[in-house]
Amino acid sequence: MSTELTWLGHNAWSIRAGDYRLLLDPFLNDNPLSPVKADEVAADFILVSHGHGDHLGDAVAIAQRTGATVVGIFEVCEWLAARGVKSVHAMNLGGGYNFPFGRLTMTLALHSSAMPDGSYGGSPCGFVLQRAEGTVYFACDTALFSDMKLIGAMGLDLAAVPIGDNYTMGPAAALEAVRLLQPKRVVPVHCGTWPVIAQDADAWARQVQAETGVQAVVLKPGGKIVL
Ligand code: NI
Ligand code: MN
Repeated sequence: MSTELTWLGHNAWSIRAGDYRLLLDPFLNDNPLSPVKADEVAADFILVSHGHGDHLGDAVAIAQRTGATVVGIFEVCEWLAARGVKSVHAMNLGGGYNFPFGRLTMTLALHSSAMPDGSYGGSPCGFVLQRAEGTVYFACDTALFSDMKLIGAMGLDLAAVPIGDNYTMGPAAALEAVRLLQPKRVVPVHCGTWPVIAQDADAWARQVQAETGVQAVVLKPGGKIVL
């Protein structure tokens, strides 16, 4: 088995988990960084962290075309089901479930959430994916919070953390997040998509390595990490 993660820019990931194809936050068609469009991607499962357009993205269209199961918080799943998404799996904060692709735990995120039409979107979330090859934490859109230390205690092989600032943690808070999470590797996300979240990811990575010893990997859109 293998686990291969491809960054599609912003907080969008395509994950090959053995025989299963996962998408996280498939913001593709309107994402200036994405190397692929929504009608080109394959998916068995689509994970959605919250209702904002830069995360929900093209989830409805991709789910309708592929028949993928969308995994999200209860309110996001209800909204999607009402819009014709046939297969949803609702979770809530702190809950985990053993999916065929591995164990997925929904973690808290300090952020806001609403659906594109203004409907209540429940709480925003992050995800921890546990597979035989390793454990990955996707912080998704969040501020820094000290309970990241508890997430780190799960033993993280990789963490994807936002560094864009303005809407989420910025570089300084994300450095503190790395100290709390203690992952083996960290990759910065949610930056460079637009001028308001432009950051020097390479400089951040050098600072992380120098101050924490954690290996920081800066991906280009379409770049891969293999566990
Ligand atoms: Ni957001
Ligand atoms: Mn966002």
